[in-house]
Amino acid sequence: MSLENKVAIVTGAAGGIGFAIARRFVQDGAKVVIADLDDARGAAAEAELGALGEVRYVHCNVAEKLDVRNLVAATLDAFGDIDILVNNAGIVVGADFLDLEEADFDRVLGVNLKGAFLCSQAVARHMVDKVKDGGTPGTIINMSSVNAVFAIANQVPYSISKGGMNQLTKVAALSLAPYGIRVNGIGPGSIMTEMLASVNSDPAAKARVLSRTPMGRVGEPSEIAGVAAFLASDDASYMTGQTLYADGGRLPLNYTVPVPDED
Ligand SMILES: NC(=O)c1ccc[n+]([C@@H]2O[C@H](COP(=O)([O-])OP(=O)(O)OC[C@H]3O[C@@H](n4cnc5c(N)ncnc54)[C@H](O)[C@@H]3O)[C@@H](O)[C@H]2O)c1
Repeated sequence: MSLENKVAIVTGAAGGIGFAIARRFVQDGAKVVIADLDDARGAAAEAELGALGEVRYVHCNVAEKLDVRNLVAATLDAFGDIDILVNNAGIVVGADFLDLEEADFDRVLGVNLKGAFLCSQAVARHMVDKVKDGGTPGTIINMSSVNAVFAIANQVPYSISKGGMNQLTKVAALSLAPYGIRVNGIGPGSIMTEMLASVNSDPAAKARVLSRTPMGRVGEPSEIAGVAAFLASDDASYMTGQTLYADGGRLPLNYTVPVPDED
């Protein structure tokens, strides 16, 4: 198995894409820490994936430095090492540009971008110490979005946070390359999770999404987990500073595609 005996932290893994990544990593042989705010879903995720391998849930708000410090300590306590970090936790707040509240701007940037920085820095310090002691380098994966490249008018802080995420990927990759630590990103298109629930329950919104999706369907969380498993594995050993887009063809599209009626 490609991640045999590796230790991974996946943030925001109580549900959605993060949970699918945690599941895939366990199936690939890794020991996984699920870091999330939602204790009930986190405990359920730990119980479900615990049947497949070694899994721990740790409460962590990635936007809080003390929580992140505790996450690193709890992971080292449980599994003695950290080889892989996936910065997946993310939130959206929809509001028009002229109406957006400052607090909502701060909240989204705090989780999506500062949270990824805090986790990366704390985990990278451990990874660098390990390399200096003769150990193997680890790897970091940042969950970006197609919205890092193009924008949605009422998703102001989200689009900004994902643009920043791509630069975090590049700057961390350059900073950590001398230690052999790789940092890459994944940019999903529309993926079937709770984040997409409002779109999914509204046929007109769904048609708008599909009209911009050449493959004609939204993606499954497992299809993002597959990309994460590749980037975390030695198959990606010469890749760093890249963001890979798994988006059903959305980014290359410069028109809309016809969508059949639902019924
Ligand atoms: N679903 C999509 O279509 C899509 C598309 C592009 C990018 N993404 C990105 O993928 C990632 C996961 O999205 P998803 O669709 O699975 O979302 P989701 O809402 O289903 O899951 C997000 C998880 O993050 C957790 N979380 C929220 N704030 C947190 C915090 N401060 N600290 C720790 N955990 C926190 C939530 O409790 C939840 O378990 C996000 O970064 C999102 O921006 C999603």
